[in-house]
Amino acid sequence: MPDTSRPARHATLTIDGKEIQLPLMSGTVGPDVMDIRKLYAQSDIFTYDPGFTSTAACESTITYIDGDKGELLHRGYPIDQLAEKSHYLEVCYLLLYGELPTAAQLEDFEHRVTMHTMLHEQMQNFFRGFRRDAHPMAIMVGVVGAMSAFYHDSTDIADPWQREVASIRLIAKMPTIAAWAYKYHIGQPFVYPRNDIDYASNFLRMCFAVPAEDYVVDPILSRAMDRIFTLHADHEQNASTSTVRLASSSGANPFACIAAGIACLWGPAHGGANQACLEMLKEIGTPDRIPEFIARAKDKDDPFRLMGFGHRVYKNFDPRATVMKESADEVLDLLGVENNPVLQVAKELEKQALADPYFAEKKLFPNVDFYSGIILEAMGFPTSMFTPIFALSRTVGWISQWKEMLMDPSQKIGRPRQLYTGACTRDYIEVENR
Ligand code: CMC
Repeated sequence: MPDTSRPARHATLTIDGKEIQLPLMSGTVGPDVMDIRKLYAQSDIFTYDPGFTSTAACESTITYIDGDKGELLHRGYPIDQLAEKSHYLEVCYLLLYGELPTAAQLEDFEHRVTMHTMLHEQMQNFFRGFRRDAHPMAIMVGVVGAMSAFYHDSTDIADPWQREVASIRLIAKMPTIAAWAYKYHIGQPFVYPRNDIDYASNFLRMCFAVPAEDYVVDPILSRAMDRIFTLHADHEQNASTSTVRLASSSGANPFACIAAGIACLWGPAHGGANQACLEMLKEIGTPDRIPEFIARAKDKDDPFRLMGFGHRVYKNFDPRATVMKESADEVLDLLGVENNPVLQVAKELEKQALADPYFAEKKLFPNVDFYSGIILEAMGFPTSMFTPIFALSRTVGWISQWKEMLMDPSQKIGRPRQLYTGACTRDYIEVENR
């Protein structure tokens, strides 16, 4: 909770000689924010901040990032501790309900999720309507949006029970949807979820099992999968989360809002970066070509960027990348992928970029997507599945933020304003006179 014991502080803005007092608000940690809600009414002036680089769009208690320190906290718990000691469904509980669960609460939560992993059977027709070569993200956007047509009893956002059911359904069904998008894409039969194995193992099984033979999930791979889910679970007000909040601000149903989040995540500047990064590492191919690509990334006339590098908030190491790098070593070791050429290129690229003044000056460090693709590829996933895996992991973050927003009494429909630079009023000219 914000500290209300401190005396109220204000910033004074002077516009054309007129002084306007703007309240300053403090969170528990992090920079203060200036409350500009009354600015337009008092001054007839808007603020201008494309990309929200200096704008806090909401109050939240879920996730905190200190970009300078490279720190990520969920409900106060550091991500490296959660990645090492916790597991994905426990982190889901923490994000959704605010506290770590007791053993009984965790058991109940896991049971509820497990009992909702199957999809309405008719949804298979939905998958079958797509072209086989459809990107799994395209299928996910469509199928998740279509959930609102299948689960009518959990679309009333004013009903807390329906909100809860929708939340559990989304977390539970997302692995099934992502796995089936993959199975459809490669022309294999859909594999149904099982109740006797954990969340990550279930996902691996639904992706890689076939009816013709038994499939036993390697516990080390399952742990690595779970850790990837955990590292992507939430990341405060990033583009896709803000998209979910904006969609939800109109009162849209949860499935429509999460489909909007998936669509936003798809872009290469956001969740699509893991696919783009692996493709880039393969294009580089051998360490001797790294200087050429670094030069391109620095060239203002070349749109090329080093994928998996840079972050709007982190101006230091992304703490998720550090855990991901360790996981990459573990998984490749387990799979006996010695001297993996992509990993060699990645490590050397990281070294050379970090030693380059351009990246140092702009504080560009590896982000979560730099190493995740290497692990996922080693596990057998094609690059097109990387972003769907990010989407399934982030679903809990989107839902937690969505629920928080619906409970926030200051919530209003999101409606940014603009700096209009188009034509002023002018009279219509008949076509024959143009
Ligand atoms: N390679 C080369 N130069 C870069 C890079 C990069 N990856 N990222 C930023 N820059 C430069 C950029 O050209 C700009 O230079 P200048 O000030 O001279 O114009 C400066 O650094 C600041 O960049 P920006 O685009 O203004 O920063 P931003 O906060 O708007 O963008 C970003 C952040 C993540 C979109 C960007 O760093 C980027 O495009 N990175 C590559 C894509 C990527 O890895 N995305 C995954 C992000 S983490 C997971 C997620 O959020 O989904």
